[in-house]
Amino acid sequence: MSTINMQQLKKSYQDTEVIHGINIDIEEGEFIVLVGPSGCGKSTLLRMVAGLESITSGEVKIDDKVVNDLEPKDRGISMVFQNYALYPHMTVYDNMAYGLKLMKMPKDEIDKRVQDVAKLLQIQDYLQRRPSKLSGGQRQRVAMGRAIVRDPKVFLFDEPLSNLDAKLRVQMRMQIKTLQQKLAVTTIYVTHDQVEAMTMADRLVVLNNGIAAQIGTPMEIYDDPKDQFVAGFIGSPAMNFLDCEVCDESIKIGQQSIATPTHVTQRGKIVLGIRPEHFNQSVSDLQGTVQMIEKLGSNVLLYLKMENSEQPVVIQCDGQLDAKIGAVYPFSFNTEKLYFFDTNTQQRIY
Ligand SMILES: Nc1ncnc2c1ncn2[C@@H]1O[C@H](COP(=O)(O)OP(=O)(O)OP(=O)(O)O)[C@@H](O)[C@H]1O
Ligand SMILES: [Mg+2]
Repeated sequence: MSTINMQQLKKSYQDTEVIHGINIDIEEGEFIVLVGPSGCGKSTLLRMVAGLESITSGEVKIDDKVVNDLEPKDRGISMVFQNYALYPHMTVYDNMAYGLKLMKMPKDEIDKRVQDVAKLLQIQDYLQRRPSKLSGGQRQRVAMGRAIVRDPKVFLFDEPLSNLDAKLRVQMRMQIKTLQQKLAVTTIYVTHDQVEAMTMADRLVVLNNGIAAQIGTPMEIYDDPKDQFVAGFIGSPAMNFLDCEVCDESIKIGQQSIATPTHVTQRGKIVLGIRPEHFNQSVSDLQGTVQMIEKLGSNVLLYLKMENSEQPVVIQCDGQLDAKIGAVYPFSFNTEKLYFFDTNTQQRIY
């Protein structure tokens, strides 16, 4: 097991800086997920740890040793890519054995490792097949197997599940998580899928435009987001944001208002945040017109339009709810669960 430290890591391509000074300390055996929208710098950061991208400034340490100038093969890492990057002309066995052969490992040791890992991943029956004769999920497991046989100190994953269908993705994310716990290898996992991130991570790093917007356990980030970006990115469906004006007596939202709860001490024109799961249906001091209904089985999502408010409000309701488009629907907030953000800086107002 290894620790990884990133200190003031920066990356520029020509004159454009894309990673702006990132600090992350990863403990032994931790499962860290880098999550963020497309283009925020997840792959770049991962590839800097792997040694596949040069580091413009700052340091990457593995086990307290600076690895900035070490070749990828000397860093003790194994990486799994989105497209698996399997060798098409080699059998599954040879795909898994290839890296070990390059390391000049004795043949019987290679055989033992490949067989053991194949059993672990339940691909022992496909060892003589070529990758083209495997399903997506099987290929994915071969790519994992190739990473595991090398017995690395660190696993790096870059969106390894995005080529799979939804059901297989759920299965594979459980398998990867279980396997990682069993092998206890320090892991950095990149995804843009916040559900994958929440379910797999010991801790999340939410990246926004080359900056680590927040680092914490999934529940810390869900419960206590530092800014509007993190609040909107983590949680599905996303948090609602409404422009409002908080006065002593009432919070005005468009032409409607609610009494200002005593625990809300913020004042002025700010952004109110409320998650779809944090509405009350028993009390009704606000109302909106039903614009769209999404029936998900166990629950129903209502998209409501409030007068004078551009953004629709998304409310998660009981699956049995029978709503009609165009109807006026009363609702209220669970005021314990309100968040407030600065209109200009998007920072959380506590
Ligand atoms: N070789 C390159 N030259 C110039 N700019 C690059 C290069 N590689 C990446 N970038 C830029 O760096 C930024 C981060 O890219 P990166 O691939 O790390 O994003 P990402 O978070 O992995 O996105 P995605 O989810 O789409 O894979 C992007 O703005 C991208 O355009
Ligand atoms: Mg990427």
